[in-house]
Amino acid sequence: MNKGLFVTIEGGEGSGKSTLIERLAHTMQGMGRSVVTTREPGGIPIAEKIRSVILDREHTAMDSRTEALLYAASRRQHLVEKVIPALEQGSIVICDRFVDSSLVYQGYARGLGYEQIWAINEFATRKMMPDLTLYLDVSPQTGLARIARNADREINRLDMEKLSFHERVREGYKQLLLRFPGRIVEVNAEKDADEVYAEAASIVESRLASML
Ligand code: TMP
Repeated sequence: MNKGLFVTIEGGEGSGKSTLIERLAHTMQGMGRSVVTTREPGGIPIAEKIRSVILDREHTAMDSRTEALLYAASRRQHLVEKVIPALEQGSIVICDRFVDSSLVYQGYARGLGYEQIWAINEFATRKMMPDLTLYLDVSPQTGLARIARNADREINRLDMEKLSFHERVREGYKQLLLRFPGRIVEVNAEKDADEVYAEAASIVESRLASML
């Protein structure tokens, strides 16, 4: 049986993660691989309920530590219920966001600090990390303009943050790239979707080839 591969896709709002994930999954399935696509927060019923609590536009009173704990709680449940079983069966799991999002959004952009966010996530994940992370880098201006053009996309509590928050998110990802140079690969997502897809697919394919 094939060994599973845990791939996460990270990036700011409007970086094109969902479109890319669909296309990558299609390609990997075409290569005969079993692929599970999923997202955080969410991916299973309990975690989707936590997602709706976190992202509810009326929950403006939510404390940033409460928010960080809810993300970690939803991550734990999603990991044990969906991600780990799929990897054990040899699937490629492509997940829209994971621990890096908490390190960047809660640790860096909300100012709770990398160490504290790492500590609660270490408890939640028991240090399980992705095999490969693609970071889709886009300026907040481009990303937010894309969201504004996409009528189908929900506008959530975090989209309503100021531009400076989204700029801090981008800076936070740049710092994470320095911390995890082997695992996280940056992809320029200012380019058009076809080019982003081609670059991302070749990175994933070469990682799969190196596992043979
Ligand atoms: P999405 O719009 O990419 O589905 O993500 C939902 C929002 O949740 C997005 O603004 C990023 C945020 N988020 C965090 O702040 N911390 C986390 O750990 C995760 C997974 C998401």
